[in-house]
Amino acid sequence: MSYDKNYSEWANDPISYWDKKSKNITWIEPYKKTLHKTADHYEWFHQGKLNTCYNCLDKHIENGRGNRVAIFYDSPVTDTKKKITYNELLSQVTSLAASLNNMGVVKGDRVVLYMPMIPEVIVSMLACARIGAVHSVVFGGFAAEELASRISDVTPKVVISASCGLERKKIINYKEILNKALTLSFHKPSKQIIYQRKQYICKLNMENDISWNEFIKSSLTINCIPIDSNDPLYILHTSGTTGIPKGIVRTNGGHAVSLLNSMKMTYDISQNDVFWAASDVGWVVGHSYIVYAPLLLGCSTILYEGKPVGTPDAGQFWRVISEYKVKTMFTAPTAIRAIKKEDSNGEEIKKYDLSKLKYIFLAGERADPESIKWTMEMINKPVIDHWWQTETGWSIAGNFAQFGLFDILYGSTGKAAPGYQVTVLNDEGKKLPPDKMGNLVIKLPLPPGCSSEIWNNKGRFYEAYLKRYSGYYDTSDAGVINKNGYISVMSRTDDIINCAGHRLSTGSIEEILTQHKDVAECAVIGIQDNLKGQVPIGLLVLTNSSINSEESIINETINLVREKLGPIASYKKSIVVAALPKTRSGKILRSTIAKILNRENYKIPATIEDMNTLEIIKSLKYT
Ligand code: COA
Ligand code: AMP
Repeated sequence: MSYDKNYSEWANDPISYWDKKSKNITWIEPYKKTLHKTADHYEWFHQGKLNTCYNCLDKHIENGRGNRVAIFYDSPVTDTKKKITYNELLSQVTSLAASLNNMGVVKGDRVVLYMPMIPEVIVSMLACARIGAVHSVVFGGFAAEELASRISDVTPKVVISASCGLERKKIINYKEILNKALTLSFHKPSKQIIYQRKQYICKLNMENDISWNEFIKSSLTINCIPIDSNDPLYILHTSGTTGIPKGIVRTNGGHAVSLLNSMKMTYDISQNDVFWAASDVGWVVGHSYIVYAPLLLGCSTILYEGKPVGTPDAGQFWRVISEYKVKTMFTAPTAIRAIKKEDSNGEEIKKYDLSKLKYIFLAGERADPESIKWTMEMINKPVIDHWWQTETGWSIAGNFAQFGLFDILYGSTGKAAPGYQVTVLNDEGKKLPPDKMGNLVIKLPLPPGCSSEIWNNKGRFYEAYLKRYSGYYDTSDAGVINKNGYISVMSRTDDIINCAGHRLSTGSIEEILTQHKDVAECAVIGIQDNLKGQVPIGLLVLTNSSINSEESIINETINLVREKLGPIASYKKSIVVAALPKTRSGKILRSTIAKILNRENYKIPATIEDMNTLEIIKSLKYT
């Protein structure tokens, strides 16, 4: 069936469509209603009971597939390779789940995971799912303050962490970061379970520290607990427009149904295939496509602890694809740009047998046509851009392998996935005709799997996504849809920038910069970067009383962002300016500044307070 037919099948009768898809999940108790509207949101598969871990592990083993490899762990940074079968994974998950339960972790309790890309992070996620505990994974590249704010937000009973992470040749002392976070956080967990990696054995020097090996009682076991379809499976924080990250809540039922459906529909993967998402479990792509979706299907997933380049070379992606016979791989455009920069003639590619590879999927940021074309030329396979967000958990738009690919339009993220009705509205909420740029919105209800709640703050979901356009979810992305339904995502409409496929709030960096005693005010904007897409730079106006050298202030502010937000912000440049252009009402003209510095066309706003300030920006040399 073609894309059009499938899309119409969904559009004509979404309830039957999702009912049909839900049959591929094993329910402990059937749901009573496919879609239920509460006072402030929609619930899919209302009052159904299931267990996500059961659907990821036990079910495949009961179906005789226990000896199939669930995880290929490949870590060039530690020179380690491991195969973990479904049987082995279940046994590890059960021991940890039972040990957690034994210490009092029960359904609804939160568990923070601050872990590198090691199999134990997947074991921990599934162990939580097994007992209905809600995991909240924090990406390793965040600083202690960010970890602390997440611990304070989700108030976990337990934190699971590791002694270290490895970044190329650098050892990142996770335990030290965790210790600092625990001293900063107002909430204290009952236990910190620490997995000791042999590359660095840390001291268990905080109250309630216990080593992973000591904590896990392998004699213990526990069955899957029935979980309500709309109970949370996990919380994952993402940047919001303020300094406080949003804890996106994902519930069990819709998540399982939508992710399992996407494995065939979007990625053309069957149980005997190998699927690889080269992301990190700290991001939504890692949650959905390193862990849950492949395991819900019962195929093999790859956990890769390395980079596209430098660990040790630009051939690693091709090596992994060839070694594990990957059929579909998923990465970010920035990774392709990094490889292309180092191996533009594709010499590394020639070394490997890529005959099993059928597609590469890209997401996380706008895919520049050049990178797509280069990759397609080099590997002679389709490279497919698709668009999604932490909030949706799976792609809003793409090109769907199961239906037969439609023509790729460079610069477009494809067409809406069955489940999503995407529209372009102007700022006043009026629908725009094809090819007119505006706000990309999704008609409510959002499909299964999408979030409808921010942890600890129900009202914030409405405020952030639903309030602006009645009846629609505001994606905060701007773009166009052409007459054939191709969607192109151009930029964000808020102050989020996209750096190496990661979402950064410029507002939160500004909050950090203004903590420096010499900074009176500042503006952080995203500057185009050939490798990372965008990188943040800060323009600083100093206080009149500042007596320190500009050079020292610049270095201190760079260190401050690294220390408070983390290295992942890639904040490497502060520039001191005499003043910032503002409107007469005092609002800093950030988007005009960004356009000037990115050498884009800009209009001089009629409301500008003082033209001289624009001249200052125009004269800046920032490269
Ligand atoms: N733990 C601790 N530190 C981390 C980290 C982690 N898990 N991940 C990244 N960092 C650090 C890096 O060491 C680096 O620190 P540095 O400033 O001291 O060098 C900083 O954060 C920035 O990291 P990164 O963005 O990875 O930049 P890079 O220059 O090391 O590598 C790329 C550039 C393009 C290779 C890399 O960004 C990349 O692989 N991007 C793909 C991202 C991706 O897959 N995103 C998935 C979204 S779908
Ligand atoms: P995150 O929640 O971190 O996955 O980031 C989501 C944001 O990344 C989206 O709102 C977009 O701004 C951007 N994004 C993701 N995928 C794409 C894509 N394929 N093309 C353009 N932008 C994208």
